[in-house]
Amino acid sequence: MSKASAPGKTILFGEHAVVYGYPALVCAVDARLITTLKPAKESWLEVPAIGRNDSLDNPLEVYQFYKRGIELLGIEPVHIHVDSQFPISAGMGSSAAMACSFMQAASDLAGLNLSKEQIREKAHEMEKVVHGNPSGVDTSISTYGGLLEFRKGNDPARFTSGANLPLLIGYTGKEGMTKVTVAHVRELFEKDKRAITRIFEEIHDIEQQAKTRLLAGEMDLIGPLMDRNHALLQQLGVSSLELDRLVQAAKDAGAQGAKLTGGGGGGCMIALGGEEVAKALGAAGGQVIETGLSKDGVRSER
Ligand code: PMV
Repeated sequence: MSKASAPGKTILFGEHAVVYGYPALVCAVDARLITTLKPAKESWLEVPAIGRNDSLDNPLEVYQFYKRGIELLGIEPVHIHVDSQFPISAGMGSSAAMACSFMQAASDLAGLNLSKEQIREKAHEMEKVVHGNPSGVDTSISTYGGLLEFRKGNDPARFTSGANLPLLIGYTGKEGMTKVTVAHVRELFEKDKRAITRIFEEIHDIEQQAKTRLLAGEMDLIGPLMDRNHALLQQLGVSSLELDRLVQAAKDAGAQGAKLTGGGGGGCMIALGGEEVAKALGAAGGQVIETGLSKDGVRSER
């Protein structure tokens, strides 16, 4: 038997602009997804959190995702069990955490000794089964953990931040709609490149300021930068009633800052705040995940 875990993630600044080549700041969170592997006669997947329990011959995407993982490594059949401390399909990088923890556990079980870089590469290949053309941000952060600045097509720049981010994640309970919102922004962009580019430039400016502050461990301006980033995402039309309700509830309860995170249209928002804010998010219908930055990326577990 072997066991490995990988962290979920949240995009702090720069979602959507990142699709157009601007950098995004992403961090790994202290909530992990755990994969347990056992040798088996037939390859099998069990994910109780989403009610999946079947052979990898099942044509559904999630089974084919793991089938691809097994093919990539050329290993013997395995029984795969997945537990998660954060919601699946909520924009917290669950598929990347599935792929990365699977690669680490399989490497341990089969004695392959994969390096982190190999895990990241192969997990990225697995992600293509469910995401078509993923930018690679999720598999990078889930592999390495910590805080990183990701720019499409470049190796991510990894940082060590002294900042202690009291991050609250509020899940709307609705699946994120990344594909839909990305297409919506594309449409806006094609209609009025100048106006939308101006919004991206502003998001970029916010992201750069946030990076400088985080690296210096200066937390005071991070909240206001989150608020500004959220307003710009609203202008792009990628927020939703539920997300705005949670963001407002957080602000009313005294959060230093709050914004949607990831694709939007559903999924999650993030806020900087303490117990009062967490309570307010729960009262406004959010599923609250209190977390912080996780230094650890993918790792083997005993
Ligand atoms: O919804 P998530 O967590 O997969 O994040 C999507 C981020 C976008 O910038 C909207 C899209 C992308 O591919 O980077």
